Amino acid sequence: MRVEDAQNIFDLREMAKAKLPKWLFEFVDRGTEDEVALHNNRGAFERIQLRPRMLVDVSGRKLDTTVYGKEHKMPIGIAPTGAVGMMWYQGELELARAAKAAGIPFSLATGSITSMEEIADKVGGTLWMQLYMWADRRLSHQLVRRASAAGFESLLVTVDGVVAGNREYNRRNGFAVPFRYNRKNISDVLSHPGWMLKVLGRYIANGGMPNRANFPDELKGKITSDYGGTKETRSDSLCWDDLKALRDIWPGKLLVKGILHPDDAMKSVELGADGVIVSNHGGRNCDAAPAPIEVLPDVVAAVGDRTTVLFDSGVRRGSDVVKALALGAKMVLIGRSTLYGTAAAGEAGAKRALDIYRGEISRAMAQIAALKVSDIGPQHVAFQEEGRLVPAAQPEARARAANVQPLFAQEGR
Ligand SMILES: Cc1cc2nc3c(=O)[nH]c(=O)nc-3n(C[C@H](O)[C@H](O)[C@H](O)COP(=O)(O)O)c2cc1C
Repeated sequence: MRVEDAQNIFDLREMAKAKLPKWLFEFVDRGTEDEVALHNNRGAFERIQLRPRMLVDVSGRKLDTTVYGKEHKMPIGIAPTGAVGMMWYQGELELARAAKAAGIPFSLATGSITSMEEIADKVGGTLWMQLYMWADRRLSHQLVRRASAAGFESLLVTVDGVVAGNREYNRRNGFAVPFRYNRKNISDVLSHPGWMLKVLGRYIANGGMPNRANFPDELKGKITSDYGGTKETRSDSLCWDDLKALRDIWPGKLLVKGILHPDDAMKSVELGADGVIVSNHGGRNCDAAPAPIEVLPDVVAAVGDRTTVLFDSGVRRGSDVVKALALGAKMVLIGRSTLYGTAAAGEAGAKRALDIYRGEISRAMAQIAALKVSDIGPQHVAFQEEGRLVPAAQPEARARAANVQPLFAQEGR
């Protein structure tokens, strides 16, 4: 199958599955523990319906949107994912190019193979940097200053990864970070010769195993090398004081990624964050976490107009994007969808994924008679509850059905 023939993101997923070794595909595709959160992320979207409207001329509809004073061609951006460089040779450059061509932001993960300077020099566009706090804060602050010098506009501080998700399938597949060769993962690589030659082989031919190019010198090394002990990439002592310190040293937009509770959103705003990203890390970390789309309205109601709310997790269709916008997100970040595309065909595959989103968002907007992104609101969605449909724009009706406090205190958002 060629990427042009992929009709939707699920087709691209099948292509990625065929190309990647099983340990790598599952690392990208799966969740954590019993994968309840992973499935809920999709299930929650399915329980929300769009409310089609008729007889409105939507021929002039537009997908562009302004976020942080900048115009973006679509209301989506690329979420940071540490695995892009393993999907394709120099996958981060490929995906960043596709994002730039589509006129949307690209987020680079702390753990990427390509350095932030190389992304900025060779691609440019709207660049955001993701940060995992190291136990040694000094090292993290070095990375922050580097990102600022390289021209990155926003810093996404990931706060939902203070402990690693309990991903049992990785251990069963013989996959761990740092990567170690073993009988299981080697035989898996050998049975995917395309990936072995075109991705791994090209790295080895061009200087050896890739390294973590954004790590400070003290921690840098091949992805197979150890960086253990106190220098771990995650820090379970991460706290609000860290956010304050980051606010002091980061001159650009500061976004807190991984928020699921309105109080945490409020506190982020109080400490000077420019935005929160409502996310459960794509169901990869806490299996008992709620589906972010279900808590999005509460977060939006809590912060009001004081900050910008972004969203990710479980998005696979343009209609999912429109649902998140309707519930108050200003932009939706895309994680696995463009990883599948990049694994299928590098930049061309990532472009295909973004083209699919463009078409599907445009179609969904036409169906609800929204001419522009800012027209999309809670009046466009309804929830399935107790076998009945409850419009989001009627908070009392929704509260009655759910027998809980009104979720949509701010009607019209
Ligand atoms: C393979 C993979 C690696 C990821 N790596 C990171 C990371 O390094 N930093 C981070 O903040 N989020 C990371 N994420 C989470 C994404 O940024 C995003 O929250 C998630 O993928 C959204 O869910 P979706 O994949 O269902 O769209 C990763 C996700 C995947 C699938």
